[in-house]
Amino acid sequence: MSTNNHIKRTRVKILLETEPGSEPVLAKGWVRTKRESKDLVFFEINDGSSMANIQAVVDRSTPEGLKALDGPTLQRLQTGASVAVTGILVESPGQKQKVELHGTAIQVIGEAPAESYPLQKKRHSYEYLREIAHLRPRTNTFGAVIRVRNRMAMAIHEYFQTNGFLWAHTPIITASDAEGAGEMFQVTTLPLENLAKADPSRFEQGIDYSRDFFGKPAFLTVSGQLNGEILATALDRIYTFGPTFRAENSNTSRHLAEFWMIEPEVAFCDIHEDMDLAEAFLKYVLNAVLTDCREDMEFFDQRIQPGIISQLQQVVESSFHRITYTQAIEDLENAMTKGTKFEYKPSWGADLQSEHEKYLTEEIYKGPVIVTDYPKEIKAFYMKLNDDGKTVRGMDVLVPRLGEIIGGSEREERLEVLQARMAEAGLDEKAYWWYLDLRRFGTVPHAGFGLGFERLIQYVTGMQNIRDVIPFPRTPKSADF
Ligand code: 4AD
Ligand code: MG
Repeated sequence: MSTNNHIKRTRVKILLETEPGSEPVLAKGWVRTKRESKDLVFFEINDGSSMANIQAVVDRSTPEGLKALDGPTLQRLQTGASVAVTGILVESPGQKQKVELHGTAIQVIGEAPAESYPLQKKRHSYEYLREIAHLRPRTNTFGAVIRVRNRMAMAIHEYFQTNGFLWAHTPIITASDAEGAGEMFQVTTLPLENLAKADPSRFEQGIDYSRDFFGKPAFLTVSGQLNGEILATALDRIYTFGPTFRAENSNTSRHLAEFWMIEPEVAFCDIHEDMDLAEAFLKYVLNAVLTDCREDMEFFDQRIQPGIISQLQQVVESSFHRITYTQAIEDLENAMTKGTKFEYKPSWGADLQSEHEKYLTEEIYKGPVIVTDYPKEIKAFYMKLNDDGKTVRGMDVLVPRLGEIIGGSEREERLEVLQARMAEAGLDEKAYWWYLDLRRFGTVPHAGFGLGFERLIQYVTGMQNIRDVIPFPRTPKSADF
């Protein structure tokens, strides 16, 4: 009943690796299952430190057992309850685990009544679990996702830190639309609705932004790149790793309104070195997860995406294919002449659809593909123009199952060419005076890319929907929890 408070708690992961002994140990966590067989009570505890639970056993046919787990406590010991279990680690007769915990004192800290606990021990759909996002981290799948996510975040920092990059923090609130796609969330302290109600005529004439917090329209950032370029053209190589916001109204399995992006930016760097960086960086992160998240990756391999471990291992060991956009369109057109059907017909000048990206990576090249030199019309204003005047030095990394996970480019470092591109894109030079200044003073070839963190987690775990690789997804009409 009462726990031995002088015993230091041991995480479940450590207990599972500990040899049986005679000293009492203390575990705390949440009950995953409980099973009674005559006087024997078995229950499994998980504390998030590993996929595996520790099994606790109490024999209530003995006076000690009855004392450790009295009637009322047994009643309250249900799936979802938080518990503290003191016991002795013994060799387990079961196949599943090396050791189990013979409980000598069990305390239910917080109960979870079976009638109302929403997370019962059965398979729930991912849709349902999204509705109970406050409890879904207690499932095997989400525990594994969050542990893998953590390891990947650290691997990303490791890679850049050991290669001389500085982690730079770019603003979340910004006045510029780096991607020029107009998909920004506005940030304002103006009571827009009240204004509209109180004085509709004035509202129609436009909003007086001089009264707004920043004195001009401001937005949540869609990319830290432009600020990243400022820093890279002084510090040589930097990366950002932070939240990014896009008000694209696309309800797909690959889009979030709030996602995390990693954006390295390197001075004295061309598109080829940029691709080398993207490839080496991705391989480092994949390798770290394969090495350090074995248990979780085996779960994904068995339950979510069969064969994913060997697939990723192969990616780490092979070279990414590199093709031009023009080649990609030719490949797709060839496939069509051989009978492949696409919903959207591939044609030079149109953006690659995700069905095209999948076909290239899954059917033709059977692995990651880097596509370069896209038509300038379908890419952002900052990408360096090729000598043909038609294509730009953009590069997207495409992977099987998902399509694009990285978008990057060499940047236009020539002042006049950039000015012309901005005019074409309808951008106001005045708003970007500082960006142009970087080309006026000590300009250099430079390049970078953006990796969508959640897309990479999808790729690594095999999870189908991007909403299931971030703890609290933000999507159109959904910002709960
Ligand atoms: O291709 P994007 O739009 O590139 C940029 O933002 C550049 N400024 C990056 C750079 O060169 N520094 O976005 C980069 C990546 C995409 O490849 C994709 O993985 C991810 O960000 N991404 C999203 N992920 C989740 N939800 C969304 N709505 C996303 N939009 C882009
Ligand atoms: Mg892109």
